[in-house]
Amino acid sequence: MRGLLTLKGLSTEKIQQIINYALELKGGAKKTYENKKMATLFFENSTRTQYSFQTAMINLGINVISFNASASSVNKGETLYDTVRTFESLGLDGVVIRHSKDEYFKELENIKMPIFNGGDGAANHPTQCLLDLMTIYEEYGHFAGLKVAIIGDISHSRVAHGNIEVMNRLGMEVYIAGPEEYNDGSAPHIDLDEAIKTCDVIMLLRVQFERHQEKMSMSVEEYHQKFGLTEERMNNMKEKAIIMHPAPINRGVEIADSVAECPKSRIYKQMTNGVYVRMAVISMVLDGDL
Ligand code: NCD
Repeated sequence: MRGLLTLKGLSTEKIQQIINYALELKGGAKKTYENKKMATLFFENSTRTQYSFQTAMINLGINVISFNASASSVNKGETLYDTVRTFESLGLDGVVIRHSKDEYFKELENIKMPIFNGGDGAANHPTQCLLDLMTIYEEYGHFAGLKVAIIGDISHSRVAHGNIEVMNRLGMEVYIAGPEEYNDGSAPHIDLDEAIKTCDVIMLLRVQFERHQEKMSMSVEEYHQKFGLTEERMNNMKEKAIIMHPAPINRGVEIADSVAECPKSRIYKQMTNGVYVRMAVISMVLDGDL
């Protein structure tokens, strides 16, 4: 299949190439296409990913078609495959898809048009991982040897799962921390205060309430006190360490209001970098380099 569905199977050289190209675009390099059309098909809520993909398309001169799942024929029982096949038949040059089903793209193997994964269930979110990596690379200039703690609702997070796989391949030491009920063993566990004191990257996650079968065992106030990045914890971080979060952030839950925009926070820079990473990915796919 064409496009970008997962980072698994993408070499570390290719990943570095995408980041380098995104940095060139951020530095002012220009790339434009004529007469191309792409759509964003989001079957789950999104602010950043959807509009960052659309901004990337606009920056590349690509015409953007917005799709409203709740006003589409999906409500008449049309399948994901038939919906995507429709956009292919309309002559689109690519679609971005977000769907709640893990690896939904396995149903789309007959589609020849490029598909960009904007998130599948709790499995993959490749452009989020790439923008996270770009942000880390801008900060440190390398990956190997960096120590990362991913803190929070690991078990329901496609961001955590995607990042753990690729960060390990890039030679980073990845740990998970947070409530035991969300520890799925996908990386070695680290005590929260130990993580705060020793890690180069503190990556926070939102508690994914909408994916929970069972109610969280504690109140959000208790979560904040036990696992949130409070000012006190932030002050214990290494001097050069940075705070990341894929957002949406819940101020006062996983991160204190005052910490979200403190000098160590790269949360808004991640959003900016997301546009360049998506420009790089779309452009490389359209040019046959990815
Ligand atoms: C994340 C997602 O949807 O996977 N957000 C994002 O894409 N920036 C994380 C989340 O919803 O908590």
